[in-house]
Amino acid sequence: MAKKDKYLVGLDIGSTKTSILIAEIEGEFVKFLALGAAESKGLRKGLIVNLDSTVSSIRRAVEEAEGVANVPVQEALIGVAGNHVRGVNSRGGITLGPRPRDIEREDVRRAVDAARNISLPEDREVLHVLPHEFIVDAQDSIRDPVGMVGQRLVANVYVVTSSIAASQNLVTAANKSGILISDTVLEPLASAEVCLTQDERDLGCCLLDIGGGTTEIIAYGGGVVRHIGVVPIGGDHFTNDLAVGLRTPTPEAERIKRRHGWAASSFITDNGAIEIASVGDRPPRAIFPHMLTDIIEPRAMELLSLIRDDL
Ligand SMILES: Nc1ncnc2c1ncn2[C@@H]1O[C@H](COP(=O)(O)OP(=O)(O)OP(=O)(O)O)[C@@H](O)[C@H]1O
Ligand SMILES: [Mg+2]
Repeated sequence: MAKKDKYLVGLDIGSTKTSILIAEIEGEFVKFLALGAAESKGLRKGLIVNLDSTVSSIRRAVEEAEGVANVPVQEALIGVAGNHVRGVNSRGGITLGPRPRDIEREDVRRAVDAARNISLPEDREVLHVLPHEFIVDAQDSIRDPVGMVGQRLVANVYVVTSSIAASQNLVTAANKSGILISDTVLEPLASAEVCLTQDERDLGCCLLDIGGGTTEIIAYGGGVVRHIGVVPIGGDHFTNDLAVGLRTPTPEAERIKRRHGWAASSFITDNGAIEIASVGDRPPRAIFPHMLTDIIEPRAMELLSLIRDDL
């Protein structure tokens, strides 16, 4: 951005749309300025399959947001997701010295560094290290050990890793669109920051991001991330089922799904006929809401059972 620390820009390249958000930093707060979105077809399950079309959808989204915010975008944070992302529990620690002493912020950083030191295949990198708890000598379940006294500090962490090539291709696409990438963020983690309250994270909850081609899962318990996962079913599967099942063009299936679709028949309130386009030159037909649910509900059940298996 023009003044580097004044603005915050987030870029999300999805399999159906690319979004860019521009915000202004005002002290401790960020103020929303603009959102730009463009249809995207260059990504599948978090991996770029067509670089040129990804670049052009980033450009279109950026132009839209720049026009509204009246700020040129030069640098952005980019979201990473998809089934190349994995999470593993890890543990590591440091000895503080021959005698117990006060634990400082730097000690915590070193303990977390020791815990993140897992052996990774050459094609993978660490995206995030999320501390679960700290153990000072024999005392466990410590959230923040700074200021406590001990001889040994151990960190239990959740290490999120991603494919270097997959992340690099996203960065390359952004660079080709004229944007530098300052950092990468796991998308479900960013969603959780926005959508979940601390109480929900403490009590335990699961957040789903049902995208076009995949559903991202992030589960919290005791205030921290316990699990991340991805299921290869998203909204586009529902649309395709409707297009095939009702013999209608895909854009019409998408429209009908959004306007009239319910995930379960018990939600249906209006049983009136719905006009739907046919394929080819055939005239439009009338269908009824339960015919949509008959197709949507099994797919929703499949999605939920895969999510349960993943958890
Ligand atoms: N009102 C709605 N009702 C049902 N489904 C919807 C609605 N609006 C959008 N969708 C579906 O959401 C999906 C797109 O979601 P989203 O924009 O989060 O995907 P994406 O981020 O581009 O994809 P991904 O995260 O899989 O790469 C599409 O399949 C679309 O049909
Ligand atoms: Mg998405």
